[in-house]
Amino acid sequence: MLKLRRFACEDLETGCVTDEARPRFSFAFESDRQGASLREVVLEVNGWTWRGTDEVAVRYDGAPLSPCTVYQARVCATDDAGESAEGTLEFETGLLGGSWEAEWISDAAYRFDEKGVAPVPMVFKHAFSLGGKVRRARVYATALGIYDISLNGQRVGERYFAPGFTSYGSTLQYQTYDVTKRLGSSNELVVTVAGGWAVGPFSYTRKNRVTADRQALLLEVRVEYADGTTQVLGTGEDWQVTEDGPCRMACFYDGETYDARVSLDNVTWRPAAREALRVSPALVAEDGAPVRAHEVMRPVSCTKVGDELVYDFGQNFAGVVDLVVDGHESQTITVRHAEILKPDGTLNTDFLRTAKATLTYVCREGRQEFSPRLTYMGFRYVAVSGVDEGDIKICAHALYSDLRTTGEFGCSDERLNRLQQNIVWSSKSNLMDIPTDCPQRDERMGWTGDIAVFAPTACYNFDMGRFLRKWLRDLRSEQYRTGGIPVTVPAQGFGFPTTIPPMAVDFWGDACVLVPWALYQAEGDVEVLRENFDTMRRYVDACRFWARFGVGDYCYIWHTPAVLHFGDWVAPDVPKMGQWQARSKWTATASLQHTSALVARIAKILDEKDAAEKYGRLSARVARAYRNVFTDGHGRLKQEFQTAYVLPIQFGMLEGDELRAAVKRLSQLVEQGGYRIGTGFPGTPYILFALADNGEKDTAFQMLECTSCPSWLYEVVHGATTIWERWDGLDENGNCPIGDDGTDIMISYNHYASGAVGDFLYRRVAGLEQLEPGYRRSRVQPLVGGGLCSAHGAVETPYGRLASSWKLDGSSFSLEVEVPLGTTCEVVLPDGSTREVGCGSYAFSCEVEGAR
Ligand code: BGC
Repeated sequence: MLKLRRFACEDLETGCVTDEARPRFSFAFESDRQGASLREVVLEVNGWTWRGTDEVAVRYDGAPLSPCTVYQARVCATDDAGESAEGTLEFETGLLGGSWEAEWISDAAYRFDEKGVAPVPMVFKHAFSLGGKVRRARVYATALGIYDISLNGQRVGERYFAPGFTSYGSTLQYQTYDVTKRLGSSNELVVTVAGGWAVGPFSYTRKNRVTADRQALLLEVRVEYADGTTQVLGTGEDWQVTEDGPCRMACFYDGETYDARVSLDNVTWRPAAREALRVSPALVAEDGAPVRAHEVMRPVSCTKVGDELVYDFGQNFAGVVDLVVDGHESQTITVRHAEILKPDGTLNTDFLRTAKATLTYVCREGRQEFSPRLTYMGFRYVAVSGVDEGDIKICAHALYSDLRTTGEFGCSDERLNRLQQNIVWSSKSNLMDIPTDCPQRDERMGWTGDIAVFAPTACYNFDMGRFLRKWLRDLRSEQYRTGGIPVTVPAQGFGFPTTIPPMAVDFWGDACVLVPWALYQAEGDVEVLRENFDTMRRYVDACRFWARFGVGDYCYIWHTPAVLHFGDWVAPDVPKMGQWQARSKWTATASLQHTSALVARIAKILDEKDAAEKYGRLSARVARAYRNVFTDGHGRLKQEFQTAYVLPIQFGMLEGDELRAAVKRLSQLVEQGGYRIGTGFPGTPYILFALADNGEKDTAFQMLECTSCPSWLYEVVHGATTIWERWDGLDENGNCPIGDDGTDIMISYNHYASGAVGDFLYRRVAGLEQLEPGYRRSRVQPLVGGGLCSAHGAVETPYGRLASSWKLDGSSFSLEVEVPLGTTCEVVLPDGSTREVGCGSYAFSCEVEGAR
């Protein structure tokens, strides 16, 4: 039978409110009939009809949509057996760029300028009455700062940290809330606005007031009455404001202070004033993935340590606690947060740097519940003081962007399963409206290098479309005029490198090429390449500019001073930051070769012939320079380290005998190093591919399964529940062995970057890979090796579920494959035999020579 599996507008099956003039529709059908194919799909939106079979992304191309309007879309498909299936969805337009009747407001009297501190949260309120039967009502809201709304005493919406983090100079999201059923004849709106990212403090320099000197709010209630009349109520001077509300302090780094004794009925209110903003961003209906509460985390133990109750949640994550307390008026409860404990069982907060990560809660009398709304912490442990164990119940909410899970991976080795879970938890902890580096210390910034290397893995595990497209818009808007890309996006006042003109930074800047490319592979929508092409091109030109100082081959060796690069960042085979950076000659040159080759490929896809030729030529020249300058001409590096081999092997810079010799040598180096990892950010995603795809499968598996420090499984067997920033973050005794290495105690236990190995788990161990972007054609080719006797993986592709599950029993190999409708799949068994199959479920088997 033919069935509709998924139908979405702008990647949302429900609740889409969009300002896109041409919203994007995607749909997937499924059939239980082997070999079924679609004959026709018909999409109807607002009187516009599209017919075709390609399900990836169809952009609405009908009459202009009206603002603030609910539309229905219908999709219907017929397959080759004449069966049909259909479905509908509703979506809504936002203000579509139209002007707001509301005005920006703030508290004109409020000033704060102490360095590094957060502003006191402002509370705005407004009472209004309505005179008629309401047919439909919406609240549209945004702020500089982060806001939380309640209407008639109840919270509106479930988001955290709205309006979200964007490059506020160019774009600010607003949110839409359906309040039709929440309005009565008299109403009161109360909106709390904390400093968030826009007012700060933000970044480890704790800059505040980067976008605005104080918080500001813009909100409209649009009411449509049953008789057809409409009314708009917006923020203006008839609103009131106070800084005397119960939330006394809210800061991403320091936590929250909340005084439950405060009633808004008893505080002093002042009239709000119109606020002139320093920025004039485009206001767009939220198009990213908002942060919400997901898993409820419950402590697995509680231990009394000194005056504190130390709770262990059994999992490192990002989020907020939720307290239910039997309290007394003025009783003050303090909750400190940390990722790890010291040997004496107290919290280890040494690596949070200036972040206080503390919740202070002042009770009112009686039973009460509290959970912070305007901050988050990265933690596994909390230490609670000021309350007896019997008077408090504690749980926590994991907070992260609303991302649909699209992947699953598992195998016969529980340690690798835990690794996969750690990758997923580090993703959840760091996909917090923007891709951050870590969720706990005074950083949590959009470091471009981290997502550049991690994007393919993220795209296996989650539907990253909305999240990354929003972030890429900011990246484009923040590209320097010289073509370089800030190392954090949004930069939000953070300026590295400080040299003028801003230069390009290898691998970190590469995000402008690698992230759209990863998304294109996962989704198959060429638009993401088109949108970002100009940025990519200008970036590669900038890299080329910075590389060109030298003669002959040296003209293509990128060797600007190492301090301006991150090089082989966190490579564990050398202990100091300066040594990672000193490898930038290799990493930067390889990056230039790789990005120029990819841009040439993308140019070809976009039919940009001249660009394809230009960047193709450039990448060939850089590859030649890398070989001529860094190798002996026979595949051996003059200065050897793992990343220096991995990059040219993986990026196709070496061929024939040179390639074979380089792979052999890399394999030897790995073996000599006891199969321990030696790569930093640039080499880590690729090292297992470089080995396994070039005949050194056994070395790759030995490295994957290695448990000595440093390795992926060292962390796992030492109790990690997320991916560590530093391979050697804890020693055998649970102490951090890292001393003064030049990084200012840069030690986080929740950094997804080295989790980039997830790509290998999906693509090689489970064997799921796209042959055409979006998996229109895929390949299932499990790599059987190491101690594994089974593995399975599945990806929710744009067409539906692609899955593989294999088992090895002695020398008998069996494989089950599921292929989505509308796609074909090449199945390659370990004996080399290949079949091409269409939609359906299949089972295969063969004998594997030399199996254990
Ligand atoms: C971050 C990294 C980042 C790096 C670049 C660190 O502080 O946590 O993940 O990419 O800085 O230098």
